Amino acid sequence: MNVLISGGAGFIGSHVVRRFVRAYPQYRIINLDALTYAGNLENLRDIEDAPNYTFVRGDICDFDLLCRLMAQYAIDAVIHLAAESHVDRSIKDPFTFARTNVMGTLSLLEAARRYWNGRWQGKLFYHISTDEVYGSLALDAAAAAPPFGPELFCEKTPYAPHSPYSASKASADHFVRAYHDTYGMPTLVTNCSNNYGPYQFPEKLIPLCINNIRLGKPLPIYGKGENVRDWLHVEDHAGAIDAIFHRGLPGETYNIGADNEWKNRDIVHLLIRTTDRLLGRPCGASIPLITYVEDRAGHDLRYAIDSSKLQREIGWAPAYTFETGIEMTVRWYLENQPWLDAVTSGAYMSYYDDMYGKH
Ligand code: NAD
Ligand code: DAU
Repeated sequence: MNVLISGGAGFIGSHVVRRFVRAYPQYRIINLDALTYAGNLENLRDIEDAPNYTFVRGDICDFDLLCRLMAQYAIDAVIHLAAESHVDRSIKDPFTFARTNVMGTLSLLEAARRYWNGRWQGKLFYHISTDEVYGSLALDAAAAAPPFGPELFCEKTPYAPHSPYSASKASADHFVRAYHDTYGMPTLVTNCSNNYGPYQFPEKLIPLCINNIRLGKPLPIYGKGENVRDWLHVEDHAGAIDAIFHRGLPGETYNIGADNEWKNRDIVHLLIRTTDRLLGRPCGASIPLITYVEDRAGHDLRYAIDSSKLQREIGWAPAYTFETGIEMTVRWYLENQPWLDAVTSGAYMSYYDDMYGKH
């Protein structure tokens, strides 16, 4: 099977590429990534020479390129992760999010449709999406109970995106389902909660805090820090994607999460405790770095995923506890400080432009 993975040089994509390259030597994995600020080939150094792996630098909005790649590599399946992924950036620059997340997804769908040309047997278009498309849940259990609102996001929860990022992902999800319903294309959509783990760009809460604690810089908490996110280790997400890719039913949607809700300010305190301990600093030394800042515009209050369909129908369950996952994650960033320094300085980007041509 020839599998095109888009966005494979990013955070989650690199874990998915590594897992597929290692676990399925019989598959050919083509990693298509534009290498934006978020894409980094350092994330894949350990598998870049594998005989079943090919990297292509390219933009998912480049329809001619996509059509060429589908034919050149006789693509059987697409796992689509390429996206602009950061909510704060989407508030400042919504156009880029609509371009990549909506038009890029549509371009990839259409290139696959034209290449497969109705011969759907053995083909799959798998779109990786987010729980943010469902909007926001109430904090208070009574207010979140039916009929006032769902307690958890399930696959039937109506879409209610609030940020330009989640609106663009919701639009992409709708296009993927439309291709299933209109053309009969075998598609899958999964909506996952917040990921954490190695290789996450340090603009996101967890790596940002670990990096700033290490450097003694402020730890910005938006608003009162009461917003809740449901955290999943990135390798558990990659494991779920593997299971769903092989056992999911075309046309279906599965929610992915680990029942692991945390308030942002509690996460920041946990990261301070863990990082200070691993750096040999006195307990709580970094607490004064906490800085409450202006809230994110349209900030969703709470995300929480019901993944019982996935557990019941596919037999997936997360392997990491949050305790071990966070400890291993903090250790990874502290042991990979050159990676952190390179991505925060942007040093790696001009190197790619020299090597692959400017994007
Ligand atoms: P990321 O920002 O770390 O990586 C995105 C990758 O896509 C980068 O390698 C980037 O170079 C590439 N890319 C961006 N624009 C491109 C384009 N036009 N053409 C080709 N490649 C392009 O993102 P991530 O956190 O790894 O998220 C991956 C996917 O998973 C996204 O679709 C995101 O919406 C989804 N998701 C993320 C989370 C999370 O917590 N991070 C949770 C649920 C779903
Ligand atoms: O839920 C899945 C989503 O999780 C993915 O679809 C997105 O791609 C991913 O970026 C993530 O979105 P969030 O906005 O939840 O992640 P972020 O790490 O940016 O923020 C997590 C929470 O922490 C959120 O409530 C905002 C808050 N925050 C974030 C930053 C960067 C802060 O309080 N301070 C910060 O500096």
